[in-house]
Amino acid sequence: MSWREKNRIFFHQAIALLLLLGLFNADANSQMQAKKSIGQINQQLIEKFKQGSYSKKGADTCLKCHDEQAELNGMGIFNNVHGRADISATPFAHLQCESCHGPVGKHAKRLRKGKEREPMVSFGMNSPVLSAHQSSVCLSCHDDQKRVAWQGSVHQSEQLPCSACHLVHTAQDPALIKQQQNKLCGSCHKTQSDAFNKRSAHPLKWGQMSCSDCHNPHGSMEEHGLVKSTLNQTCFQCHGEKRGPLLWEHAPVTEDCSICHNAHGSVNAGLLKQRAPQLCLDCHSPADHPVASAQQINNPNTRNVFVLGKNCLNCHSQVHGSNHPSGQMMQR
Ligand code: HEC
Ligand code: HEC
Ligand code: HEC
Ligand code: HEC
Ligand code: HEC
Ligand code: HEC
Ligand code: HEC
Ligand code: HEC
Ligand code: HEC
Ligand code: HEC
Repeated sequence: MSWREKNRIFFHQAIALLLLLGLFNADANSQMQAKKSIGQINQQLIEKFKQGSYSKKGADTCLKCHDEQAELNGMGIFNNVHGRADISATPFAHLQCESCHGPVGKHAKRLRKGKEREPMVSFGMNSPVLSAHQSSVCLSCHDDQKRVAWQGSVHQSEQLPCSACHLVHTAQDPALIKQQQNKLCGSCHKTQSDAFNKRSAHPLKWGQMSCSDCHNPHGSMEEHGLVKSTLNQTCFQCHGEKRGPLLWEHAPVTEDCSICHNAHGSVNAGLLKQRAPQLCLDCHSPADHPVASAQQINNPNTRNVFVLGKNCLNCHSQVHGSNHPSGQMMQR
C-alpha cells in the first residue's frame, strides 16, 4: 500500500471514529459552540480529507506562496528531520507538506472576490483545528510504543496538541533540548519550575537534567506521569545506591522517597520537606526514645540527649537504612 493510500485510509478511519464519538457534532462540543467558525473549519477540513485531492507537484506547489518572502513561511521544515527526503518514513519521502497540512484541495486556487481561502490543517495552541484532530496527523506516524499512554493522559485530556510542545519548522525542537524543555514546561507549570530555583534543588537550571528525566510528557500508566513504575523506581534511575536490599531498612524509605523529600526543590538542605528533628518527630515520639529519660524530656533546662545537637542524624546517620551488622538503629 502506498503512503498516500495509507494516509488517506487513516484519516477516513480517524474521522469516522470522531464522528461516531460526536466530537464533530456542533451541539456536543463546547469548544465549537464558543466559536462557531471553529466548527466550520473543522467540517471543511474533514470534507477535504474525504475528497483527498493532493497536489501533483507536492512542496513546489506550496512554496510558490510560502517561501522566505511570504508572511507565512514554510521553508523552516527543511532544517528539520521532517523535511529530509533521504529518510524513508519522513513526510518528505511521501506527501511532503501535505502529509501534515492535509490535501491542498482548493487552497491554492485563485480566489474569487469576497471568497475565503479554503483552510489547511494548521497546528499549535492557537490553531482553530481541534487538538485531537491535529494530534491525529502526528500520530499517523508516531503511534508507537513510546506513546501508548497518550490517549487518556492528562495532557491529552487537557486538549494539548502535540504542537503545544513540539516545533517542526525549526532546526531545534525545544522539547528535545534539556534547557529549553525546562522553560517550555515551566511556561505552564510555574510552581514546579520555580521550585528548581530554591536553595536545594535538582540541577535543572543549567540543563544537566530535565523534567522528562522523571516525567513522561506523553503520559504514563503511573501516578504523576512518572517514567518508572513507582516513584522510588524513578529515583533509583540515578540514586541506585538507595535501592538496597539493605540489612536494616527504614520503612518510609522503602515506601516512598517523597515522604521526606520534595523531588523538585526545597528551602531546606538535601531537598528535605522539613528539617530534622521535626521531620523525624512526625512519626517518632520523644517519649518512646530509650536514651532520653522522662525527666530529661520534661525538664526544659536539661540538654535532652534525644535532640542533642538538635539533630537525630548526629546519631542515626544512616537514615536510608544500614548494611552494618549492628546498624539496626541506623547509627552506622
Ligand atoms: C496561491 C498561493 C498559495 C498556495 C499555492 C498555497 N497557499 Fe497556503 N496560504 C496562502 C495564503 C494567502 C494563506 C493565508 C491565509 C488566508 O489568506 O486565508 C495561506 C495559509 C496557509 C496555512 C495556514 C492555515 C490556514 O489555512 O490559514 C497553511 C498551513 C498553508 N497555507 C499551507 C499550505 C500548503 C501545505 C500548501 C501546498 C499544499 C499551500 N499552503 C499552498 C496561499 C497559498
Ligand atoms: C509521514 C510521517 C510523519 C508525520 C506525519 C510526522 N512525523 Fe515526526 N517523524 C517522522 C520520522 C520518520 C521521524 C524521524 C525518526 C527518526 O529519525 O528515527 C520523525 C521525528 C520526529 C521527532 C523527533 C525529532 C528529532 O529531531 O529527533 C519528533 C519530536 C516528531 N517527529 C514530532 C512530530 C509531530 C509533532 C508531528 C505532527 C505535527 C509529526 N512528527 C508528524 C515521521 C513523521
Ligand atoms: C507536554 C509536552 C509534549 C506534548 C504535548 C507532546 N510531546 Fe512529544 N516529547 C516531549 C518531550 C519533552 C520529549 C523529549 C522526551 C525525552 O527527552 O525523553 C518528546 C519526545 C517526542 C518524540 C521523540 C522521541 C520519542 O519519544 O520517540 C516524538 C516522536 C514525539 N515526542 C512525538 C509526539 C507526538 C506525536 C505528540 C502528540 C500526540 C507529542 N509528542 C506530544 C514533549 C511533548
Ligand atoms: C511534520 C509535519 C509538517 C510538515 C511536513 C510541514 N509542516 Fe508546516 N507546520 C507544521 C506544524 C506542526 C506547524 C506549526 C509551527 C511549527 O511546528 O513550527 C506548521 C506551520 C506551518 C505554517 C505556518 C502556519 C501558521 O498558521 O502560522 C505554514 C505556512 C506551513 N507550515 C507550511 C508548510 C509548507 C509549505 C510545508 C512544506 C514545504 C510544510 N509546512 C511542511 C507541520 C508540518
Ligand atoms: C500548554 C501548557 C502545558 C505545557 C507546555 C505542559 N503542560 Fe503539563 N499539564 C498541563 C495541564 C493543563 C495539566 C493538568 C493540570 C495540572 O496538573 O496543572 C498538566 C499536567 C501535567 C502533569 C501531571 C500529570 C499527571 O499524570 O498527574 C505533569 C507531570 C506535567 N503536566 C508535566 C509536564 C512536562 C514535563 C511538560 C514539559 C515537557 C509539560 N507538562 C508541559 C499543561 C501543560
Ligand atoms: C527528580 C525527578 C523530577 C523532576 C526532574 C521533575 N519532577 Fe515533577 N514530580 C516528580 C515527582 C516524584 C512528583 C510527585 C510527587 C510530588 O509532588 O512531590 C512530581 C509532581 C509533578 C507535578 C504534579 C503532578 C500531579 O499529579 O499533581 C507536576 C505538574 C510536575 N511534577 C511538573 C514538573 C515539571 C514541569 C518539571 C520540570 C521543570 C518537573 N516536574 C521535574 C518528580 C520530578
Ligand atoms: C536523572 C537523574 C536523577 C533522578 C531521576 C533523580 N535524581 Fe536526585 N539527584 C540527581 C543529581 C544529578 C543530583 C545532584 C547531585 C549533586 O549535586 O552532587 C541529585 C541530588 C539529589 C538529592 C540531594 C540534594 C542535595 O542538596 O544534597 C536528593 C535528596 C535527591 N536527589 C533525591 C531524589 C529523589 C527523591 C528522586 C526521585 C523522585 C531523585 N532524586 C531522582 C539526579 C537525579
Ligand atoms: C525518613 C526520611 C527520608 C526518606 C523517606 C528518604 N530520605 Fe533521602 N535523606 C533524608 C535525610 C534526613 C537526608 C539528609 C542526610 C544528611 O544530611 O546526612 C537525606 C539525603 C538524601 C540524599 C543526599 C545525600 C545522600 O545520602 O546521598 C539523597 C540522594 C537521598 N536522600 C535520596 C533518597 C531517595 C532516593 C529516597 C527514596 C528511596 C530517600 N532519599 C528517602 C531522609 C529521607
Ligand atoms: C513517615 C514516618 C517516619 C518518618 C518521617 C521517620 N521514620 Fe523512622 N521509622 C518509621 C517506621 C514506621 C519505622 C519502623 C518501626 C518499627 O519497625 O517498629 C522506623 C524506624 C526507625 C528507626 C529504627 C527503629 C527500630 O526499631 O528499628 C530509627 C532509628 C528511625 N526510624 C529514625 C528516624 C529518623 C532519624 C528520622 C528522621 C530523619 C525518621 N526515623 C523519620 C517511620 C518514620
Ligand atoms: C545521642 C544519640 C542519639 C540521638 C541524638 C537520637 N538518638 Fe535515637 N537512639 C539512640 C540510640 C543509642 C538508640 C538505641 C537504644 C537501644 O538500643 O535501646 C536509639 C533508638 C531510637 C529509636 C528506636 C526506639 C525503639 O524503641 O526501638 C528511634 C525510633 C529513634 N532512636 C529515633 C530518634 C529520633 C527521631 C531522634 C531525633 C529526634 C533521635 N533518635 C535522636 C541514639 C540517639
